[in-house]
Amino acid sequence: MDFRSAHILSIEQFERDSIDRLFETADFLAPYARRQKRTKVLEGAILGNMFFEPSTRTRVSFGAAFNLLGGFVRETTGIDSSSLKKGESLYDTARVLSGYSDIICMRHPQAHSVAEFAEGSRVPVINGGDGPNEHPTQALLDLYTIRSELAAHDRTIDGLRIAMIGDLKHGRTVHSLSKLLCLYKNITVKLVSPEALALPNYLIDSLVNAGHRVEVSNDLENGLKGVDIVYSTRIQEERFSSSEEANLYRGQFRLNETIFTANCEPNTVIMHPLPRDSRSDANELDNDLNPNPRLAIFRQADNGVIVRMALFASILDVVHLVEKYEAPIHWASRR
Ligand code: NCD
Repeated sequence: MDFRSAHILSIEQFERDSIDRLFETADFLAPYARRQKRTKVLEGAILGNMFFEPSTRTRVSFGAAFNLLGGFVRETTGIDSSSLKKGESLYDTARVLSGYSDIICMRHPQAHSVAEFAEGSRVPVINGGDGPNEHPTQALLDLYTIRSELAAHDRTIDGLRIAMIGDLKHGRTVHSLSKLLCLYKNITVKLVSPEALALPNYLIDSLVNAGHRVEVSNDLENGLKGVDIVYSTRIQEERFSSSEEANLYRGQFRLNETIFTANCEPNTVIMHPLPRDSRSDANELDNDLNPNPRLAIFRQADNGVIVRMALFASILDVVHLVEKYEAPIHWASRR
């Protein structure tokens, strides 16, 4: 794909080659994300960061990524505080807001709403999660994390063995990641969920058609065996008709240090898109895993900034100018 001025609406837009190029840019920008270097390459540019569903990591990391490239961020959060509440169409909102921004990130509770919004936008739009449908930038940062965690053991994404656990029906991060894995070779995917929350069939079919081995079960301990990556997810409570219904499934697949040690290979890496639900009736990833060096959830969240910087720099076509606009760092914030 051509990144320049592109909307990022679905992970299906990407080919393997564009992922390679994006990850190369991400590696190049990592020192800027870590404040070892600084650039003002996007000084003057405005990101419209519009989040109409709860978000911490995605919203703040999009904003921080834009700031780290020197750009400015304008935010709207919550449908209740926007004119969508007054009946304004997504098209009109997009037409107006794209006059105020150079690029827009958007999260919205309805599937395909971000694509509808993009039709009215005069600037590139990035999908920050459209209901249960997709979360393409999370899949990119997840794959970037998988790649770097595997590289430490001389492994590549081809040949990956991954267990995806939890609410696979509603989890948009799992949907986008499953699609993305179809671009790679010889992957084993173990899908562990309650039967009612299984990965949608069309996604299982895509994985099988890509030549991957897919195992479906509701047996956590078996699912954890013989995998490189455990990708745990939370029950997506907000997609159920009531919290009572969500409660039926909460807490079924809990991973803690004892279960990890008993079932996982020593190099197995634990990932989660976050937030992990740490309430006692859920607790899909126990806090007793925190000292475990194989727990990659915070490295994964840090990678969100790096990958989002790479997307902004590629879409706005400034990768080649990043070094030219370098600036000194004159503060001390790291401990
Ligand atoms: C995920 C999401 O919003 O889909 N969070 C995120 O963006 N990192 C996962 C979730 O909310 O469970």
